[in-house]
Amino acid sequence: MNDKTERAGRTRFAELSKLLSSLPCPETLLCVRAGEVTDVAAVTTMWVSYDPVIVAVYLRPGIRTHKLVNEGRQFTLNVVDEAQNPQALLAGSLKGDDPDKLKKLALQFEPAASIDSPRVSGAAASYECRVLKVAACGDHDLFLGLVTGWNVRDGGKPVVRWGGHSHAIGATLEAPAVKYPH
Ligand SMILES: Cc1cc2nc3c(=O)[nH]c(=O)nc-3n(C[C@H](O)[C@H](O)[C@H](O)COP(=O)(O)O)c2cc1C
Repeated sequence: MNDKTERAGRTRFAELSKLLSSLPCPETLLCVRAGEVTDVAAVTTMWVSYDPVIVAVYLRPGIRTHKLVNEGRQFTLNVVDEAQNPQALLAGSLKGDDPDKLKKLALQFEPAASIDSPRVSGAAASYECRVLKVAACGDHDLFLGLVTGWNVRDGGKPVVRWGGHSHAIGATLEAPAVKYPH
């Protein structure tokens, strides 16, 4: 690669980074157990369907959680609570091939009600998902998860990613409440 191509690549990357970080996304911890192996990764996520509840995550091919979700066909999504943000960011940098990853994360787990993958204790909410569909999408694969169990913790404080940082939810704006389905 010559200097000009490298500079063009860096410029495009900076532009994309600005664009992608302008869209606020929920910060979650994906937890998967396949066979005897448990792994956790930080991911952003969104819902797709209200009834049944279906959520979407996008995993980069090659990471271990991608492989484990493909094998196990189920996972939990745990909405990161403010108190868990340092652990969530660590989960977003430690690779699954680190044998001490779970020890370093020091997260507590609890059994899910409907699938083998555990929930992360203390999360603002947990979604238990069975893989409904997988689709190749650009540089990530899209996993749609059918939600078969859930828990919303009273008093939970969900974290949102925006502008390359983790944020607490801000003040409610003056406007009528809109309930689902809308
Ligand atoms: C806030 C945050 C959000 C992330 N979102 C995603 C994501 O949506 N998809 C993805 O593939 N990786 C995402 N990552 C990176 C993974 O968490 C990271 O590659 C992790 O080390 C994968 O672990 P594994 O190798 O055990 O699968 C994110 C990282 C951070 C810090």
